[in-house]
Amino acid sequence: MTPMDASRISAEICGLAPVIPVLVLEDAATAQSLATALIAGGLPALEVTLRTPAALDAIREMALVEGGVVGAGTLMNTDDVKAAKEAGAQFGVSPGATDRLLAACEDHDLPLLPGTATASEAMALLERGYSVQKFFPAEANGGAAALKAIGAPIPQVSFCPTGGVSLQNAPDYLSLPNTLCVGGSWVAPKDAIAAQDWARVETLAREAAALGH
Ligand code: 3PG
Repeated sequence: MTPMDASRISAEICGLAPVIPVLVLEDAATAQSLATALIAGGLPALEVTLRTPAALDAIREMALVEGGVVGAGTLMNTDDVKAAKEAGAQFGVSPGATDRLLAACEDHDLPLLPGTATASEAMALLERGYSVQKFFPAEANGGAAALKAIGAPIPQVSFCPTGGVSLQNAPDYLSLPNTLCVGGSWVAPKDAIAAQDWARVETLAREAAALGH
């Protein structure tokens, strides 16, 4: 898959809802219920981070839930890309970008939303063909003001800011012309998942979906 195709697919996925939930799952047995609640609340694009032993099974489970588009986050290397693809991930997300990671996603036909934090990184990815990128870690890098400033000289790149984004500050990003959607873990709090409080998750998703974009 070319970087241009990856960017086109990333833009489509980022266009599904204003927020992509960033999910850290300890137990794949809860994955389907979690996905169902988030999708019911209006958030169909889901990022499962490859940070827990349960992540790949969680992706497998979530891929069975109708109406969702499940991706793998925290992709770091070729093995992650292969495992994500094999588990049924439809897209990938990474905190940063390396040549090897980009090549692996291109070789294995996994559309990647690559992470970037600076103008130089955004330019390097754009040079390679990636016009849709994740701005990470968004708040620590200067938040919406920084993303707005990057957009002045580099309007060709659109972003999904992630990291420190909340219901409160999400509108600051979503009002920018270079922001397609935001990513965030606040819609799936650890305690709600542990308590299997799917009503709470659905309510959080509904609030997030109502942000508009
Ligand atoms: C992460 O690294 O876990 C994501 O960027 C999500 O960040 P958040 O927990 O601040 O939403």
